[in-house]
Amino acid sequence: MAAREILVYPDDRLRQPTTEVTKFDDELKALVQDMFDTLKVADGIGLAAPQIGVSKKVVIIHIEEKDENNELLEEHRLVLINPKFLEKHGTTEYKEGCLSIPTFYETVQRAERVKLQAQDENGETHVYDADGLLAICMQHEYDHLEGHLFIDHISSLKRERIVKGLKKMRKDQQS
Ligand code: CO
Repeated sequence: MAAREILVYPDDRLRQPTTEVTKFDDELKALVQDMFDTLKVADGIGLAAPQIGVSKKVVIIHIEEKDENNELLEEHRLVLINPKFLEKHGTTEYKEGCLSIPTFYETVQRAERVKLQAQDENGETHVYDADGLLAICMQHEYDHLEGHLFIDHISSLKRERIVKGLKKMRKDQQS
């Protein structure tokens, strides 16, 4: 197990555009495994490679939907390499957070349903029809590959508040 450090905003590497994956080799598989290990330790539902400082089009998602008795209803464990949206429909809102913007949550508008094409770690192409939390998570993680963050979708006033809050957090941690 090799959980890696998650970069925190405003780290410049979160803003860099990413490159397509062309080699589906052992190095890629090791990266994907490290990303799942990192996500598990961080207790998140999705992670994009730039968040661990790797500027490649690699996203992983692990969503477990449980009922009130903590029984697993549905599980989505996806590796999305070189993802592309083929279709987007409707709008929905959700209070989003991000492992790179810890402790802050804001309501973001996204498409309600999406059709996403992506390769897996073996280079095979899949097409996913998604709605609900999975569709939101796909759009959030795809944004990371473009150097975008959820705070780009909210008002400048709310964004300023988060930027200030993160600065204060960093200061408190240093002192
Ligand atoms: Co994020």
